[in-house]
Amino acid sequence: MEKARVKVARFINARQSKQVIFTRNTTESINLVAFSWGSTHIAAGDLIVLTEMEHHSNLVPWQLLAQRTGARLEFVPITEDGLLRQDIYEELLRQQPKLVAFTHMSNVLGTINPAQEMIAQAHAAGATVLLDAAQSVPHLPVDVQALDIDFLCFSAHKMLGPTGIGVLYGKRDLLEDMPPFMGGGDMIRTVGLRQSTWNDLPWKFEAGTPAIAEAIGLGAAVDYLKALGMEHVLRHEQELTRYAMEQLQAVAGLTIYGPDADRRGGVISFTLGDIHPHDLASILDQEVGVAVRAGHHCAQPLMERLGLAATARASFYVYTIKEEIDTLVQGLQKAIQIFSL
Ligand SMILES: Cc1ncc(COP(=O)(O)O)c(C=O)c1O
Repeated sequence: MEKARVKVARFINARQSKQVIFTRNTTESINLVAFSWGSTHIAAGDLIVLTEMEHHSNLVPWQLLAQRTGARLEFVPITEDGLLRQDIYEELLRQQPKLVAFTHMSNVLGTINPAQEMIAQAHAAGATVLLDAAQSVPHLPVDVQALDIDFLCFSAHKMLGPTGIGVLYGKRDLLEDMPPFMGGGDMIRTVGLRQSTWNDLPWKFEAGTPAIAEAIGLGAAVDYLKALGMEHVLRHEQELTRYAMEQLQAVAGLTIYGPDADRRGGVISFTLGDIHPHDLASILDQEVGVAVRAGHHCAQPLMERLGLAATARASFYVYTIKEEIDTLVQGLQKAIQIFSL
């Protein structure tokens, strides 16, 4: 298990493996920061800056923190083509937020946000920054030192690993300074009836019997991705995305949400005429055996911003091939026939 921690640390270029905290998933990592860091750093009136394209897991923990403390939440809006409004981001930074938290890559729009610049700008304004890397660590090279990120969160199950294990990376001084999140076995050094002292990093944040098998599984996934090379994973997905955008744009009545292929990763959300995305997903499944996800993708505020109840979303990974995109397009043509569009 500790070897897996070292593998993960090297994978994201953490300086020390003790900066890698094992959690259950991205959601738990964000909640850990919101409770532990949030309880000592956020007070009434403080500003927390988020964006309109966040997954629920990078929204609700901050809403809870704001409700507990009286902090203020503000949101960077998106442009029509699914990019963050950098002008408004800069305006919000002028209000000196305590925290900025945003997604590296949108799970709906596919947008890859300019994380490095945004983190540097936030630091210049005095803010601490959390990056939701649930969609980036699995799909592109991520270097926490180059990004100079304060907190970074991701999940093993989105990178060929098992469910039930995720990671919180943090800068060491921030983590050392933070109170424990959960209490119990393993996270203590000494326990008295009325008082206890805390274990060193990373175990201070890992209360109870750990997810040992899952952590080792994450280590195996990291070995596999490392052998492929994350630059190759990114290039493969960019090629597929470019190809899929071309093919999909030729389907009459199809709308793609998000930016052009150069500024996105391998997820494409779309609607086809007025076919409900759930119907579309069923047809693609039954007629051509292609699995897309339909729904709000755990990003209801973003759906509202787009004026939609749901989209269908195709997503690509290391195992996806061009022929499967052709099959997806055939399936969409079938849907057009079935619905006589
Ligand atoms: C961008 C993003 N953030 C956070 C999450 C939450 O991940 P988990 O459910 O593993 O905690 C997801 C999962 O879909 C995601 O895509």
